[in-house]
Amino acid sequence: MHQGPQNVAVILPAAGSGRRFGGEENKLFARLAGLPIWMHSANRLRAHHRVARIVMPVAAQDRPRFENEYGESVQKLKIEIVDGGAERTDSVLSGLCQIGDDASIELIAIHDAARPLIRSADLDAVFAKADQTGAAILATPVTATVKQSFDAGASCRTIDRSTLWLAQTPQVFRVPVLKSAYARHRGRAATDDAELVQRAGINVAMVSGSADNLKITHPNDLIVAEAIIKSQSEFQDA
Ligand code: C5P
Repeated sequence: MHQGPQNVAVILPAAGSGRRFGGEENKLFARLAGLPIWMHSANRLRAHHRVARIVMPVAAQDRPRFENEYGESVQKLKIEIVDGGAERTDSVLSGLCQIGDDASIELIAIHDAARPLIRSADLDAVFAKADQTGAAILATPVTATVKQSFDAGASCRTIDRSTLWLAQTPQVFRVPVLKSAYARHRGRAATDDAELVQRAGINVAMVSGSADNLKITHPNDLIVAEAIIKSQSEFQDA
């Protein structure tokens, strides 16, 4: 198999507050199969042969924990810690500044630290698509029946789902593509990086990913994630 050059820099935003998860601490420190959530994400990205650098934006209050309690892992995984920001886009921009003008980097992959189950084959596929097109994200086609309501649920209509996808991460861009999108970003809210890139007039391709690349949002998601990890390792052992 063609291995591809080691020319991908990962930005792993980890600076969220995780309000929906509840609790005092950043949800990324919650344990999943014995390890904090963020470490699963970092391990899986570091294990990919194309990943050269991992930059992780963190919140100021979490920095001591990452540098002390987890300092050894952070070093071993060669993670560059930077300051995150108030919005996710601020955290990504901080990561982008850290990557700077590194001429060895062709692609930047932004991956939520809160998605610990990313599969190597999905990384292969989304990196390959971004090599071809300059901008690609993992996503899954919507399988549910989708309803729209303008009166808080008193009435509804069905939306045609055949054109709808759920965006995941990684979202992967050639360096100049992401840089130009962020240079044009004037603070208008965006829920993902693909939105900023597409607003800059650049097409973003979608690669059909695995539904199990879930984002840990609520504590119950950990139960599902544990089961998925178990099935993934059984699959690898097979
Ligand atoms: O809150 P949510 O899980 O949707 O955030 C997605 C990812 O972005 C998380 O890994 C979170 O830590 C990160 N994030 C960030 N900076 C923010 C908000 C979120 O790095 N200001």
